[in-house]
Parts: sequence; structure tokens; C-alpha cells
Amino acid sequence: IKKVTTHQIQAMKDRGEKISMLTAYDYSMAKILDSAGIDIILVGDSASNVMAGNETTLPITLDQMIYHASSVVKAVDRSLVVVDLPFGSYQGNSSEALRSTIRIMKESGAHAVKIEGGAEIKESVLRVLTAGVPVMGHLGLTPQSIYKFGTYTVRAKEDEEAEKLIADAKLLEECGCFAIVLEKIPAKLAKKVAEVVSIPVIGIGAGPDVDGQVLVVHDMLGITKDFKPRFLRRYADLDNIMTDAVKAYIDDVKSNDFPNEKESY
Ligand code: KIV
Ligand code: NA
Repeated sequence: IKKVTTHQIQAMKDRGEKISMLTAYDYSMAKILDSAGIDIILVGDSASNVMAGNETTLPITLDQMIYHASSVVKAVDRSLVVVDLPFGSYQGNSSEALRSTIRIMKESGAHAVKIEGGAEIKESVLRVLTAGVPVMGHLGLTPQSIYKFGTYTVRAKEDEEAEKLIADAKLLEECGCFAIVLEKIPAKLAKKVAEVVSIPVIGIGAGPDVDGQVLVVHDMLGITKDFKPRFLRRYADLDNIMTDAVKAYIDDVKSNDFPNEKESY
């Protein structure tokens, strides 16, 4: 099996092939995504919400991200594995960012990191890149800054924020990032960004005119049933399927139907 590299991700944009990306946080899920042929697996800090039940992404630690990432890497034969630098692991200075990145790369075997922000984190991006680690940018709604924004609503609707976003995207490209995630911004702005930078732009809630799409896998599988943003398309109703399965199991246990003779030694 041919492994997906950052160069192949760039080649996809260059030939107009859309890039597919989903999150995963554990071995079993990553195995399914990799076997299905996903291009990029993101070990997102959304694990803080989806796996740990936190209200924001802020509490998840570098150690916890490494645990998730190493579980995912063991399952992957083909996909490119990108890991989020969690809140508090890079904002101090560029050597902190590099130290955190080196821990992720050494202890999990991942292939790249993702860092939220633009001009503010320029030094850190450059420093990580000098170590030979590919960096994916992340602009628009950056959930680690939720207490600055105040809400999870669409970002960059005003001209001023849109202009900063375009400038940040160009800056991340100049720094040498291999791709940029754009989260929850107007489709028109995302289209413009994908046109002005030559590196791949991967959207979530950023419309169709970008180079690829990413979703949180538990959202698109319908496991997180109370999360219903406009941008989300559900490809399965696993909440119902799993609930029915668990109920059937409970019934079978209570009624002495399970286990039967064939299921016993
Ligand atoms: O953590 C995450 O899941 C993400 C994606 C939504 C881009 O950063
Ligand atoms: Na994230």
C-alpha cells in the first residue's frame, strides 16, 4: 500500500482531486478509516469533547494527545496522520512548540502536526518546520480561543477579520505549512483563500470551493446526536443502531436468551 505523503496531498490540489480527512482518536476507529481509504486522519484535540466529555478543547493535555495519536498510528497503513498541538503546549514560545512537537513525533510516530493561529504563532511554525516536521495551519474558528471569541458562531463575516484571515493564510504558506484547515467561515471567503494560496485548503463549515473536507468522525457517523451544526452531514445513524444493539443485548441477558448452547463451552 502506498502511503499518503504531504507531497501527494499537494499533488491532489494541483490536479483538482479533493482531499478527504476525518478525525480519529483510537486504534479501532483509525483502522476503519484507513481501510476505507481516507487520505488524512486528524488526531484532533476535539478528543477533549468527544472522548473525554469536556465542554471545550482546552483541558486535553499533551500526554493525552500522545496516547490518542500512538493508538491511531498503530492502526494506519496508508493515511497521513496529523496531530493537534493541544492548548498550552506551544503558545509560550517557539522552543516550547518544538519540544511538544518532538514529543508527539517520537512518542506516537505521527507524520505531521496542526497548530491553531496565524501571525501570532509564526515563530513556532517556523521553528517546528526547521526540525523537518510538516505543519498544517488552522484558521477561522479556532476552538482553543473560544473564550476570546465568546461563541462558536461563524468567523470572519466582517471585512477586517476576513482580511486578517487572508493575510494569515498567505503567511502560513510563506512559512512553509503544507496545508491549512479553515473552520466555520463564509464559503465565499474560503474560496478566495483556496485561490490565493497554492497549498491545499481543507474546510469544515467552509463551503465546497476548497481543496478538501474534514469532519469529526463521531459527528458524521451520528454518534454525537445532539450536535447539529448546519455544516454537518450525517452518513450514518450510529446512535440509534448502537442503542438498539445495547437494548437487544440487555433483553437477551434478562431473558436468559444469551448465551445459548452454541455460545457456551
Ligand atoms: O480537533 C479537531 O477535530 C479539528 C477539526 C475540526 C479540524 O481541529
Ligand atoms: Na482541533
